[in-house]
Amino acid sequence: MTDEMAGAGLSVQTVATNEIEDAADRALIARYRSVRAQTLALAAPLGAEDQVVQSMADVSPTKWHLAHTTWFFETFILRDHAPGYRVFDAQFNYLFNSYYEAVGPRHARADRGLLTRPALDEVHAYRAHVDARMEALLADEAALRRMDGLAELVELGLNHEQQHQELLLMDIKHVLSCNPLRPAYAERAGKNADRAPPLRWLSFAGGTHEVGHAGRGFCFDNETPRHRCWLEDFRLASRPVTNAEYRAFIADGGYEEPRWWLADGWQTVRNERWRAPLYWYEQDGEWMEFTLHGGRALDPAAPVVHVSYYEADAYASWAGKRLPTEAEWETAATSGTGAAGPVPFRLHPPPAAGDADLEQMTGGVWEWTASPYTAYPGYRPAPGAVGEYNGKFMVNQMVLRGGCCVTPVGHVRSSYRNFFYPHQRWAFAGIRLAEDAA
Ligand SMILES: [Fe+2]
Repeated sequence: MTDEMAGAGLSVQTVATNEIEDAADRALIARYRSVRAQTLALAAPLGAEDQVVQSMADVSPTKWHLAHTTWFFETFILRDHAPGYRVFDAQFNYLFNSYYEAVGPRHARADRGLLTRPALDEVHAYRAHVDARMEALLADEAALRRMDGLAELVELGLNHEQQHQELLLMDIKHVLSCNPLRPAYAERAGKNADRAPPLRWLSFAGGTHEVGHAGRGFCFDNETPRHRCWLEDFRLASRPVTNAEYRAFIADGGYEEPRWWLADGWQTVRNERWRAPLYWYEQDGEWMEFTLHGGRALDPAAPVVHVSYYEADAYASWAGKRLPTEAEWETAATSGTGAAGPVPFRLHPPPAAGDADLEQMTGGVWEWTASPYTAYPGYRPAPGAVGEYNGKFMVNQMVLRGGCCVTPVGHVRSSYRNFFYPHQRWAFAGIRLAEDAA
């Protein structure tokens, strides 16, 4: 009797586990289809000509994003894990490898706009070819279970594609901004808020805190390991800096006064002749802004966006404040003090609004932190080529937190670490101020 019960128990347990795994497999296919379809949906408003242009070295053409995200699944999953997989075109490994030294030589990043061939149709055929084989693989439950780590690799590929969805919009915004017609990527629904909520200062206690990814959900390797850190008491602004506030910095001669700037920042201001955020321009004596909805009058209540780390730091100096460290940002975001949950996907930063203590910690603008992008204590890159995903970029860049209006819904977390070089401005990056409590 005891053995029968044990046997029955084991059987029930086995069935339950299989059911969970089957559901997970089905969820993975559904997620694969959904993420892949979203990339095509983002490209859909664009013509074939739009999708070939590379307006600066940091920008990749839309067509390249469509192909490169497909190459990722072909290279890291299908080649090794799909028996009998036929590579779509052996030359694509050279064209669409972004930066993986272990995968071989590649086309120069700054010359991606020269790839008038393969044609857009051919890239769509490449996507369809890889999607068909990926979906067959994901439907093969036995194969999924046989290959250790396969589901995790698929999840990495999907998160990689979501990063490129944001890059696609960042990049096409830059491309369209270079056109004197200032064309819109999409028409805008809704209108500006009348004014931003008042800026308040929220206090957080110092001491030993834990930061880094916790829990079982997906994260990138650079969010691990979770570890202790020491913080002094600090205060954080309740919302990001607005366009109106940043306009006051400009009006006060912010771009003409070296004392607010780091030396490298001041040199960049002079070399690049910066006098405002990336997409601001003057028309009839008024500041205008190029957006994914085309050119329009600056929204004074919206968070300032498309500023470099240098500009964020200079603004903070002018305001008598500083930027938060990434540990301060994450501690505040996970303190239960504010609205840190995901917000709907938007094409433009929403006007600051809401009654939470901390507002727009996610989903408005990426927020520059004062922290250099380096490895957490105990960090180890993943073995193999995918180990090049994050670790090798941990020098000379600064961390941004929070996600922005063009970050896919559900993609960002409080432990998520974005990173850019301090001079770069084409990301949807803004400013949240901090100050010492003392
Ligand atoms: Fe990539």
